[in-house]
Amino acid sequence: MNSTKDRKHIPGPRSLFGRYMNLLRFYRNPFTYSRWLHDEYGKIVALGQEDNPSYVFAFGSEYNQQILTDPDLFQISSSLLKIPEESILGKMFYNNLILMTGEKHKKHRRLMQPAFHRQQIASYCSDMVQLTHQLGDHWETKGQIELNHEMKKLTQRIAVKTLFGLYNEEELDEMGGYIHKMTKSMLWVTLAPINIPGTPYYQAVQCTRQLDTKIRAMITRKQSEANATDVLASLIQARDEDGTQLSDEELVGHAFTLYVAGHETTANALTWSIFLLSQHPDILKNLLEELDGILNGSDPSLENLSSLSLLDGVIKESLRLLPPAGIGVRITSKSCELGGYMIPKGTNIFFNQMITHRLPDLYEEPDRFKPERWDSIKRSPYEYLPFSAGQHMCIGWNFATQEMKVVLAILLQRFRFAVIPGSKISPNMMMRPIHGMPMKLVPQDGQFHKVSVRGTINLYIDL
Ligand code: HEM
Repeated sequence: MNSTKDRKHIPGPRSLFGRYMNLLRFYRNPFTYSRWLHDEYGKIVALGQEDNPSYVFAFGSEYNQQILTDPDLFQISSSLLKIPEESILGKMFYNNLILMTGEKHKKHRRLMQPAFHRQQIASYCSDMVQLTHQLGDHWETKGQIELNHEMKKLTQRIAVKTLFGLYNEEELDEMGGYIHKMTKSMLWVTLAPINIPGTPYYQAVQCTRQLDTKIRAMITRKQSEANATDVLASLIQARDEDGTQLSDEELVGHAFTLYVAGHETTANALTWSIFLLSQHPDILKNLLEELDGILNGSDPSLENLSSLSLLDGVIKESLRLLPPAGIGVRITSKSCELGGYMIPKGTNIFFNQMITHRLPDLYEEPDRFKPERWDSIKRSPYEYLPFSAGQHMCIGWNFATQEMKVVLAILLQRFRFAVIPGSKISPNMMMRPIHGMPMKLVPQDGQFHKVSVRGTINLYIDL
């Protein structure tokens, strides 16, 4: 290891208050700060120049591959989560693919995979169509909407319906309501698990009890239902080669995680796809022609979804520019070498899809929305990774892509969306527009106009 550079020399910004001030700057402006780190210091950057770097950023496809293909060295970490494992909340929280490692992760992923097979997901297409139309009908009397809120409502309903097979609207909303209440103060719940009345943790525990009872009742019901086709039913039926199956506790945890991991990410991705289209009238015009030519006003089906190549490009491009889970982190299980630097055990390594997706070597005019680029380029799993890569790659990527295609194909044929001029549009780290996404809504008339908006979105995209 003689050629390995001394770890003190990992380049990076200095700060009077050490690495925490830099970390704060990163959390406040994840995209612009990451881009500045990359442009100023290169592919490997440490926050703070203390002996122990603690937080290291690794940029580019080479490091994405190195980090994501060595899960024993670059491990998923739950050390920031303070919820006690044996509590009711802990049991729901830790029975979660994202936090599992090694053999346990492989086993659970194997058991969950059938629920996400292409054929299984195909069977959710008509639910996605029906729930999207239901929302469209509700919009008929509205002139203006907050698009992100509406997309969350829709993806929440699609998730509850396809995951748990709930048909009844009241049940659907009741279930969504419990999970919403439970997850709305998640940062406080995970960092400060204080179980006294009035605290967010106490409230989350009460909701978890109700949710746990409800999911267990559903499990009991589904165990005797021969032809249920939802995700939970598929998880109940799953058997490993040695005959093992998921316990009730594990089923509750996975059902909960799938709901949480799946609906907000997809809602944010849909919000930005509609926003980007509304700001690129020529592309939207071409897309409507494609939808008209292939669907001619009818609902999308599995067969014709695959012929909609511009729609596919729009979704890929929106996830390239504004990925809802655009920065990942792993923790080193032992000291190692990365990019010629010594990295101590326990270092947080951030890999960054957002920056990879903006590298000019990989994407010409990287800050522009150009869905047609996908007709002529192919990128490796480490060069384009909105759903991450390696063992922990999103299990729901196929589900999310199908859902986005169905929702966009229906809503764009029915409505014209126009951002309210002058609105402040600013995404946070998870690509939630923090001041919302106010949109004027009229029946689709093909009269598209780009409007000026304020906010940090102007730093993200060359509009
Ligand atoms: C546009 C929508 C979505 C995006 C951008 C997204 C993104 C991601 C990313 C980046 C990861 C990996 C995180 C890491 O490597 O640290 C992930 C994992 C995961 N996602 Fe998604 N996701 C989406 C939708 C969904 C949906 C619809 C579901 C389920 C119905 C889902 C379930 C999961 C699960 C269970 C994992 C953990 C996989 C594992 O650890 O093996 N996601 N997702």
